[in-house]
Amino acid sequence: MRIILLGPPGAGKGTQAANIVEEYNVPHISTGDIFRKNIKEGTELGKKAQEYMNEGKLVPDELTCGLVASRLSEDDCKNGFMLDGFPRNTFQAEYLDRYLTENNIGLDKVINIEVDSNLLVERACGRRICKNCGATFHVKFNPSKVEDVCDVCGHNLTQRPDDNEETVSHRINVYLSETKPLVDYYTKKGVIANIDGDQDINKVFEDIKAALA
Ligand code: AP5
Ligand code: MG
Ligand code: ZN
Repeated sequence: MRIILLGPPGAGKGTQAANIVEEYNVPHISTGDIFRKNIKEGTELGKKAQEYMNEGKLVPDELTCGLVASRLSEDDCKNGFMLDGFPRNTFQAEYLDRYLTENNIGLDKVINIEVDSNLLVERACGRRICKNCGATFHVKFNPSKVEDVCDVCGHNLTQRPDDNEETVSHRINVYLSETKPLVDYYTKKGVIANIDGDQDINKVFEDIKAALA
């Protein structure tokens, strides 16, 4: 299974990615997670990416595209992969197309999770993440059993530095101008499945499974 997850910030890409990985056993490739790992480890890439991420801007294509291509060429992607947060503009989509064509790889589905913009700020600002195991919670919509403690591994939960109202609003605007055109791009290719993301987390996953069947 070769899948792209598309959708605005806070739509539920990461949340559904965890379900998809479990069901279909494909590697989860999130460019946001890769950048955050590099920031945590203090690499050169992390230092460069951090400036853009803290302001809610896209990290430049020249730092992003090669990274994805080299990740896709690893062994665990031979039988499938799930891209989360890439591509994010037309340049990246065309770059990915070229990579796939050159390597004789087809896409199965682009899962487009749709959520109205006015719900996204609350989703992102209430998000809590576990830096240890990557689990995602929400203070209201998906609370951990014990406040600020990860259900999975027991570590403390934290907030992403870009999950404040101002930065989230900027990320939404970047999505609308740069990323949303990809809905058209993949609709024309006939590979898109539009999923209503404003439903219970489990219902969203049911709809994704139906689209992938
Ligand atoms: P990235 O990490 O990709 O962030 P994003 O696209 O803004 O998306 P999020 O991770 O915020 O949202 P999500 O859809 O994963 O939602 P989640 O499941 O967590 O990118 C971050 C930054 O990195 C970018 O701004 C950019 O700077 C850079 N970057 C990354 N990729 C790049 C690229 N390709 N090119 C250039 N730059 C790039 O859910 C959100 C919350 O809602 C959670 O609390 C969750 O519990 C809750 N929730 C989920 N589903 C539901 C539901 N159905 N009902 C109620 N609540 C729900
Ligand atoms: Mg995410
Ligand atoms: Zn954890």
